[in-house]
Formats: sequence, C-alpha cells, structure tokens
Amino acid sequence: MSAEFATAGVVGIGTMGSGIAEVLARSGVSVVGVEKDADSATRARATIEASTARAVAGGKLTEAERADLLGRITIGTDLTAVAAADLVIEAVPEDLELKQQIFTELGQITRPEAVLATNTSSLSVTEISVSTANPRRVLGLHFFNPAPVQAFVEVVRTVVTDQSAVDAVKNLAEKLGKTPVVCGDKAGFIANALLFGYLNHAVQMYESRYATREDIDAAMMYGCGYPMGPLALLDLIGLDSAYEILNSMYKQDRKRVHAPAPILKQMITAGLLGRKTGKGFYTYA
Ligand code: CAA
Repeated sequence: MSAEFATAGVVGIGTMGSGIAEVLARSGVSVVGVEKDADSATRARATIEASTARAVAGGKLTEAERADLLGRITIGTDLTAVAAADLVIEAVPEDLELKQQIFTELGQITRPEAVLATNTSSLSVTEISVSTANPRRVLGLHFFNPAPVQAFVEVVRTVVTDQSAVDAVKNLAEKLGKTPVVCGDKAGFIANALLFGYLNHAVQMYESRYATREDIDAAMMYGCGYPMGPLALLDLIGLDSAYEILNSMYKQDRKRVHAPAPILKQMITAGLLGRKTGKGFYTYA
C-alpha cells in the first residue's frame, strides 16, 4: 500500500470533485481528473479557475501558487488516465450502480497497491468496495462543501479495509490541512447523519409556509451562530445532491426525518438546483 500519494486521480469533477482536485493540487499532488464528456471537463476547469481566483482575491494563494496549482491538474474524459495514480478518489453523483461500475473498472486498471476512495455522502462504502477485485484497498474519503475551505474529512473504513490504507489517507488529509476522523460505514457517517434531518426539517417548515426562507435562515445564523442558514446551505450543496443523500439515508434507516420533503423533488424537476443553476431557494447572479 502506498504510504505517500504523489499522483491522484479524481473521477467526477463536479461540485465536490473540482474542490477535491483543487485541494490536492494545492498541496503539491499531481491530479488527473476524469469527466464524462468534453463539455463537463471544460466546465470543471473553469470552476477550479474561478475558485482559485477567489482564493487569490482573499489572500489565501499568490498568483504564482495559483499558476503552479493549475499546472498540476489535467482533466480529460478517459478513465484509463488514472491507471498510474497512487490514489483515486471517485466523486460522481450518488448512484450506487454508477459508482460500482467505476470501481469495477478502477480495480482492473489501477496498480494493486493504489488506494481507491469514494467521496460518497450516504451510500454504503462496503457495497461500493465489493465491486472491485480487492475491497481491502477501498475506503471512504468524504469531503465537505466547499472542499477547499472546510477543514474536515471523514475517513470511512469498512470491515475489510486495510489499516495501512486508512493510515495513509489520514496522513494525506493532514497534509491537505484537514482534520480527519475515522468512522465506520453507516448511512451518512457522522456529519450527514446529524445534518440532513435538520436540513429536511427546514424545507418542511418552508413548504408548510410556517416561516419565510429568510426567517428560517436568520434563526439559525443569528440565533444559533451557524455560518449560513439551512436553505442557503441546501442551495450550496445542490438540491439534487441533497435529495439523493436524503433518499439514500431514508432507504437505509427508514427514519422519517430523512424522508425527503416533497417540494425538493418538485424544485429539482423545475431545474431549481441551487447555486449550480443560479436558482434554488434563493436566486444567484
Ligand atoms: N481556497 C481557499 N480558501 C478559499 C477559497 C479557496 N478556493 N475560496 C474562498 N476561500 C476562503 C476565503 O478567502 C474566505 O477566507 P476568510 O474567512 O479568511 O476571509 C473563506 O474561504 C470564506 O469565503 P467567502 O468570503 O467567499 O465566503 P463566506 O465568508 O460567505 O463563507 C462558506 C462561505 C465557507 C460557505 C461559509 O458560509 C460556511 O462555512 N458555510 C457552511 C458550509 C457547510 O456547512 N458545509 C458543509 C455542507 S454538508 C457537506 O458538504 C456534506 C455533503 O456530503 C453534502
């Protein structure tokens, strides 16, 4: 098992994958990104360019560091480009079959000592891992949105994950400036298991017209000191991702708090996905 990760593959460069690629490249890791088509690859590059420009504007990076960082990331559409990577992080949408298909292929094309990680938010890492020939080298590495800013990751071990893979990924997380915690493979891990019932409840409150979106968000920001209110946070996460996470947790634990509020599905159908489409609970310029 690799103790050091010099090269990483990131499969799926959407909201989370682009942030993960940025974080890795910022710490000197060479990143090979893979997207499903050329348009998505171009969009992914633009997202990373915009995020790193913001980091420069905020004094978090110099222009020279930004140029180096961007130079360490290549994004294409061919999965075999990650064949030589020491670590591959999958960050495609929350679709078990899709993830399993990717892991089956990764198991065939990557080096036997490479670590394979999934950034799944709510699916079973174990179910994903068994689609590879060697589940011992598979674990969860769950980042938080926005990945370049949130200083925390969950490292999820299954009952068969090699301890050396867990240790190596914990070391990497620290090198990336994140605080890692190790947890078992349970729906939502630690943070989402606590967070998503709360977010769903806020949507139900909004849906029943009990309070306005501004008042719901203000209560949690100014009353409870959260950096943003639950509806603004859902717009950041993406309503489609939030729905998939709630649905997956509900299927696994059958807790009513995780049964997605009906309006979420309606908003998704209408294309109101949050920041990524410019409109969700709020409208973005
Ligand atoms: N790299 C490094 N730093 C960056 C950056 C980048 N690419 N982009 C922005 N920053 C820095 C900024 O310079 C700024 O730093 P200072 O505070 O030191 O000035 C800081 O990040 C915040 O940036 P902004 O000023 O642009 O934004 P903000 O102050 O309004 O904060 C926020 C935005 C970070 C999103 C904050 O509101 C927040 O933390 N919200 C809660 C987010 C949260 O809960 N995330 C978890 C979601 S759940 C999840 O992700 C799990 C899942 O599975 C879905």
